[in-house]
Amino acid sequence: MANMCVVGLQWGDEGKGKIIDILARGFDVVARYQGGSNAGHTVVIGKDKFVLHLIPSGILHEGKTCVIGNGVAVDPVFLLQEIDELRARGVRVGDNLYVSDRAHVVMPYHKALDQVWDQARADGKKIGSTGRGIGPCYTDKMSRNGVRMADLYDADVFLEKLKLNLEQKNGIIAGAQGKPLSLEGIEKEYLGYAERLRPHVCDTVELMAGFLRTGKRILFEGAQGSLLDVDFGTYPYVTSSTATACGVAAGLGVPPRHVGHILGVMKAYTTRVGEGPFPTELDSSGREGDIAEAMRRPGHEYGSTTGRPRRIGWFDALVVRRAVMLSGIEELAVTHLDVLDQFETIPVCVAYEHNGERIGIFPASTAKLGKCKPICEDLPGWKQDTSGAKKLSELPANARRYLDRISELTGVPVKMVLVGPRRDQTVVA
Ligand code: GDP
Ligand code: IMO
Ligand code: MG
Repeated sequence: MANMCVVGLQWGDEGKGKIIDILARGFDVVARYQGGSNAGHTVVIGKDKFVLHLIPSGILHEGKTCVIGNGVAVDPVFLLQEIDELRARGVRVGDNLYVSDRAHVVMPYHKALDQVWDQARADGKKIGSTGRGIGPCYTDKMSRNGVRMADLYDADVFLEKLKLNLEQKNGIIAGAQGKPLSLEGIEKEYLGYAERLRPHVCDTVELMAGFLRTGKRILFEGAQGSLLDVDFGTYPYVTSSTATACGVAAGLGVPPRHVGHILGVMKAYTTRVGEGPFPTELDSSGREGDIAEAMRRPGHEYGSTTGRPRRIGWFDALVVRRAVMLSGIEELAVTHLDVLDQFETIPVCVAYEHNGERIGIFPASTAKLGKCKPICEDLPGWKQDTSGAKKLSELPANARRYLDRISELTGVPVKMVLVGPRRDQTVVA
């Protein structure tokens, strides 16, 4: 099967951007199927660093076609900003970027509601959303109040939808002491964005079907991570889309049998940005706080979208095993191995303890998960710099043992190992 899907196996930021960048050479098309500008995918090319939020990371390769599918929540403000920034840095964005006419549009009231909803939650119950309007946009999609890209090209339809939505939403915004939004301002602004985006917007179902018919190789770029999936993640501390490989078909209108090979991306440890339970998390203070801080710098553990410091913890086999099961992961890409170079021993979580009972399966109840304590085994570290390794045989024996243990615990072979952010810091097994 020629096509491939790359999906995050933890709580996002696993290094998907770099993996897509490395793999893109072997594909004709790179397509996003879910999420929105809440994503931040980093690609480092020489001295240049690019962080892509909405546009597939394949755009950095000349000759690749990039598609933003119907399942993506498209914010025209961020999309146009991203296009402008890429062009200013010499990246071609033209007939190599297509946006689905069925994609839902993130509107200004979605971003306002994102703040209002999270602020209304009690302390300790906040989601820690990126504030990019993603949850409210998908809420409107499901409640059938959404505005789709195609609606922006019929001024009457757009005006009618906008009126209805502002009637609904301005009341809520005003009730939370927010500033009501003006119909005329938004109407003009968004019709203007639509004109600028016109060359890119099309029926991407026909486009993708044409690619499949003519044997083009397609790389499906997942955003977020499996534990942020709206159905299978740590609900409600999740995003609002299908962040497993199961989202490809619905998010692009591509028949499931064409999804192809599924590669799972995981960090050699675990991180999370935003709120929600995280059993292997290191405390933010004391000795654990020092360990987390020592990992944060080499691991670039600051949110690519919001700049928030990421929460850090050890590898959790229950998290990855669940993600493997959900997407049918056939091979693993293990990233950030270099961040573990500094440790004498490295704990890995193999089960949880809850009320004196040993649990081997990721629980459905988020409250229960919050009370689970990790049961860890200590693996020997390697205390050697791995950042220059090019082959598996160049990795220290204990690093290879660590990867073998991950493979055993997840039941999936390791195909790629990343030992730094640069393209050349990649080991292919
Ligand atoms: P994504 O959302 O999954 O694409 O990941 P992000 O780009 O949000 O975060 C990953 C961060 O780690 C970025 O700053 C990358 O440049 C960096 N990175 C990727 N792979 C590695 C790696 O193997 N080692 C180190 N030290 N950093 C990496
Ligand atoms: P990439 O694609 C990490 C997290 C947010 C928050 C929760 C809900 O870069 O891996 P939302 O804005 O969707 O309402 O936020 O999900 N989150 C991410 N965390 N990486 C991401 O994307 C994320 N996208 C959303 O921090 O906890
Ligand atoms: Mg990210």
